[in-house]
Amino acid sequence: MATLSYYLGIDIGTSGTKSLLIDSSGNPIAEATMGYALATPKPLWTEQNPEDWWTATKGTILAVLKKAKVKGTQVKAIGLSGQMHGSVFLDSRGRVIRPALLWNDQRTDAECEEITRRAGGRDALISMVANPALTGFTAPKLLWLRNKEPKNYDKLKHLLLPKDEIRRRLTGELATDASDASGMLLLDVVKRNWSKELLSKLDVDPSILAPVFESEQVTGTLRKDVAEMLGLSPECKVVAGAGDCAAGAVGNGIVKQGIVTTSLGTSGVVFCHSDTPQYDRAGRIHTFCHAVHGKWHMMGVTLSAAGSLQWFVQQLCTELAKKKGVDPYDVLNEEAAQVPAGSEGLFYLPYLAGERTPHADPFARGCFIGLTNKHARGHMARSVMEGVGYSLRESLDIFENLEVPVKEIRLSGGGAKSQLWKQILADIFGQKVCTINAEQGPAFGVALLAAVGDGAYSNIEEACKATISVVEKVAPQRGPQKSYQQGFPVYRKLYTALKDRFADIHQLG
Ligand code: XUL
Repeated sequence: MATLSYYLGIDIGTSGTKSLLIDSSGNPIAEATMGYALATPKPLWTEQNPEDWWTATKGTILAVLKKAKVKGTQVKAIGLSGQMHGSVFLDSRGRVIRPALLWNDQRTDAECEEITRRAGGRDALISMVANPALTGFTAPKLLWLRNKEPKNYDKLKHLLLPKDEIRRRLTGELATDASDASGMLLLDVVKRNWSKELLSKLDVDPSILAPVFESEQVTGTLRKDVAEMLGLSPECKVVAGAGDCAAGAVGNGIVKQGIVTTSLGTSGVVFCHSDTPQYDRAGRIHTFCHAVHGKWHMMGVTLSAAGSLQWFVQQLCTELAKKKGVDPYDVLNEEAAQVPAGSEGLFYLPYLAGERTPHADPFARGCFIGLTNKHARGHMARSVMEGVGYSLRESLDIFENLEVPVKEIRLSGGGAKSQLWKQILADIFGQKVCTINAEQGPAFGVALLAAVGDGAYSNIEEACKATISVVEKVAPQRGPQKSYQQGFPVYRKLYTALKDRFADIHQLG
C-alpha cells in the first residue's frame, strides 16, 4: 500500500499562529493555534517580535503532529501564509534588528509622502507598483527606519515579510511569493518582480529583498536540525505560499472571476480574483498578484473588523470576559440579536487603527455615534457588527463601480462563526452570503498550495475544485435590508463630516 501523504498549512496571524494538517484529498486532520501579544508602544504603532511567531510555529507543528498521530515523514510539504506588510529587519548575521512594524501600524505618514514625491507623484507611483503609498505597506516602514532609526538602518542586510522570516528559520532560504511581495509597495505587480525603477528612485539596495516565486513553487526543504527538532523529514518541501489575504481566498476557492470573498478576521477583507491586473485609478482598493499562478486580485481592507468586536470585549466587557465557563461572544451575540436592525439609531465607525478602504486615513478614529439613554451593551455590540458590515459594503460598491462581476459572496474568518453577523452582512449587502466546508481560510489555502507543489494536484484551480464546496447560504431578510438601505447613506456621511475633526484630534497628540 502506498504511504499516505499529508500537507501542513501554517498561518502567521496577528493574534496567533495556526498550523493545519490536511491529507492529500484536502480533508482537515488536525489543527492547533498558539497566541501572542501585540505591542502598541505608542498610539498608532503596532509591533511584534518575530521570535514569538517562531515559538508559536514550532509549538503548533508539534501539537498538530501529536493530535493527528501522523508520522512526521508522511508530511510531504509545508505552505506558509502570514499577516501581510510586516517588516522583519535582519542584520548581516541574520539577527532581528528591532521588533517588526505591522500591517496596522500607522506611524509612516511622512514616509508615504516621501515615497510619492520621490516616485514623481501618485500616478507615477501607481504606474510602477499598481498602488498608492499607504501607511500599512512595507516600503514606508523601511524609509521610517532610515529616517528615524539610522543606526538600525546601517545594520540592515535583509528585509523580510513575516511568513518569509519563518521560512528562513525553517529552511535557511530567503524567498517570498508574488502575492505577499505586492504589499511591500516595491513590486512591479504587472511583471511580478521587484520594481528596479522605484527601488532606484527610493535609493534602496535591491539586494535586501528576497527572490520572488509563484505561490505553489518549492523554495527549499527543511534544515536538518529543524526537521529533527520537529520530527519532520529533511526532505519535506516548503512552497512559497501567500500573504494571508490571497491564501484565505484560495482557501475559499476564489481562484476564478465572479466569486468574491469577505473575511472577518482582525481586519476585514473584500477580495476578488482578476485574470488581468486592473486598477482603481482613485487607489481606494489594492491591486496585488494572486496566489494563482500568473493571476491578480483586487481587495479592499477594513483595518478593524472582528478586531473591533475583540476590542469591545477586551476593553469594555472585562467582567464578562473574565466569567468562567462563559463565552463573551455568545453572550454579546444573544444580546445583539434582541436589538432591531439599525441598533435604534446607534452607529459605529470601525476606525480603531485608522482606515484603508475606502478612506486611506491613518488618523481616522473609532466612534459610537447616536447614543441615547436607551442604548445598552447589546445595541453597542450590534452596531459594531453593523459598522463593520457597512465598511465592507463600501469596498463591494467600489468593485461594482469597476464592473467586477459579483455572482457569489463567500464569508470566512473568525467573525463568520456568528450566525447573527452573517445575517447582518447578507442584509447590508442585499445579497446571499455563503459559507464553505473548509473554515480554516489562509492555513487551508497554503496547505492546498503545498499539495500542488508536491504534485498531488496539477494546479490550484484543480485542488480547489476537488476540495471546496458551499455548505450554507444566508439570504437577506426584507425588513432589516430596508433598515440598512436607510442607514448606509447616513453611515457614509459620518466619515465625511468627521474627517477634519479626526485630523484635529491627531494634532492634540
Ligand atoms: C491586508 C492587510 C491585513 C493583514 C492581516 O492588506 O493588511 O489583512 O494581512 O493579517
